[in-house]
Amino acid sequence: MRKPIIAGNWKMNKTAAEAEALINELKPLIAKSKPEVVICVPYTDLWIAKKAIEGSKIKLGAENVAWADSGAFTGEISADMLKEIGVEYVIIGHSERRQYFGETDKTVNMRLKQALAKGLKPIVCVGETLTEREKNKTKKVLKKQVLEGFKDVTDFSNIVIAYEPVWAIGTGKTATAEDANKTIGYIRSLVKKTWGADVAKALRIQYGGSMKPSNAKELMAMRNIDGGLIGGAALKAADFAGIVNYKD
Ligand code: PGA
Repeated sequence: MRKPIIAGNWKMNKTAAEAEALINELKPLIAKSKPEVVICVPYTDLWIAKKAIEGSKIKLGAENVAWADSGAFTGEISADMLKEIGVEYVIIGHSERRQYFGETDKTVNMRLKQALAKGLKPIVCVGETLTEREKNKTKKVLKKQVLEGFKDVTDFSNIVIAYEPVWAIGTGKTATAEDANKTIGYIRSLVKKTWGADVAKALRIQYGGSMKPSNAKELMAMRNIDGGLIGGAALKAADFAGIVNYKD
């Protein structure tokens, strides 16, 4: 059985003071949650977030990690820096990183290998754009992202994949539950083909893209969907808790 994992991706939102307030509001709302709960917050919020989640079930994540140990990489944050704060998860290859900051499958692969080597748990994002979808290229794009992004990776036990169709991110458009399930099933079949049935069966794959309390239950009921990566709805305690508590 794969344990569901709901992760918030705060993106470039919330100052440290706002982060503390949001976490304090969230904690009682998810105290009895069954899924694993993670919040991935801006670097500047990590310290205060670590303190604020103490005594709760919430786990801490960052939104990226450098591929190098240290050195001349202005603007980057290393795995050791994150680990010292107590960060457990890192998002890698989010479509906004790919779209605005030149992230490629190659750099995703480098960051992923570094995260794994340092004992961080990566949430690796894949997904097609609207144009790719309309040109019937979804499978081709996902195949490239998975095969190149996960190149040379052998141990998937700490890895989570987030399938995020780019056209559904922040747009209010959600993939239908059936569609998301089918595409995630395809990603699982890709993993099975290259890394074997046991790896594919144990691997947790989230859906991301305008997930909210009103559609979480339907999405989470799907066989292949093991959780959600939540952007906009993670910025309001009640909405995020509504997704975490999708079963109630
Ligand atoms: P959204 O973002 O929930 O606001 O669509 C999801 C994501 O980008 O991770």
